[in-house]
Amino acid sequence: MECFRGKRVFITGGSSGIGLDAATRLASMGSYIAIFARNVEKLEAAQNMIGQAAAWPDQSVYALSMDVTDNTDVETKCAQAVSEFGAPDILINSAGAGYADYFEEIPFETFDSVIRTNLYGIRNVAEALVPHMKQRGGHIGNVSSMLGLIGLFGYTPYCASKFAVVGFSECLRMDLKRYGIRVSVFCPPEVDTPMTDYMTEISPPETRALVRMNGIISSEKAADAMLRGISRKRFLILSGPLSKLFFMGKRFFPWQTRMVLDTVAGVAARLKH
Ligand SMILES: NC(=O)c1ccc[n+]([C@@H]2O[C@H](COP(=O)([O-])OP(=O)(O)OC[C@H]3O[C@@H](n4cnc5c(N)ncnc54)[C@H](OP(=O)(O)O)[C@@H]3O)[C@@H](O)[C@H]2O)c1
Repeated sequence: MECFRGKRVFITGGSSGIGLDAATRLASMGSYIAIFARNVEKLEAAQNMIGQAAAWPDQSVYALSMDVTDNTDVETKCAQAVSEFGAPDILINSAGAGYADYFEEIPFETFDSVIRTNLYGIRNVAEALVPHMKQRGGHIGNVSSMLGLIGLFGYTPYCASKFAVVGFSECLRMDLKRYGIRVSVFCPPEVDTPMTDYMTEISPPETRALVRMNGIISSEKAADAMLRGISRKRFLILSGPLSKLFFMGKRFFPWQTRMVLDTVAGVAARLKH
């Protein structure tokens, strides 16, 4: 992945999970990293960790607290980062929020917050940074999910937001081609991160049974798959043979796939009583 050497990479959600592992891997390959998230302590810890992985000693790591759901904050902080650190060659939108429950149990505020983080978060950051990227071209990698390709029990807000990220990315790819900006969308299965710990705690049993079918991968493996996909200029980036199987199943055998998923959810529902 030689193409990342010397590149300036902005990563939202770079203080944890997939974003942090991507940042660490990129730093070890010689990229200049800027990370964005809300919590300042987590950002500082991540900045140190990324700095330790750097390929050479003067490779600076930039970190700035930013809430991707707040468009004014995004405009201000992205302008500040560009002026202090320089414009990005690559933008990775990894900031995200997860939630799962029975539809009637999900309050409007929670539904709204998931959509605002996962969809508007990407839209806001892209809007703020595209004007700085379009002179030289570049690459935008948006993190969606396998749940942006297959809808599952319990994930009404999360799947709605992640399907929207896939649609947004498809449109953005065509739109930004004229500036030489490529767009990728990454759809990993379940990944071992703090978000998954939280989701495991709150998910109904039907949801847990279904998610387990697609397996779980490490955050390092997910970050590596995403970066490999970006380096190969892929639009849709999947990780692992099981994900590809599910994707093909949903596409070419839709009702059979739904039947299998309904059966698994039905068995899990019966077992919980
Ligand atoms: N874990 C999985 O199983 C899985 C599977 C498929 C796709 N994904 C997707 O992968 C991406 C990364 O998830 P992860 O598993 O690595 O989660 P994670 O470890 O919980 O990291 C989430 C990151 O996003 C940041 N963030 C959350 N809300 C934000 C906001 N409003 N503004 C700015 N930053 C915000 C968090 O920092 P602060 O809280 O400090 O802001 C943190 O740095 C997400 O888009 C997620 O949906 C995850």
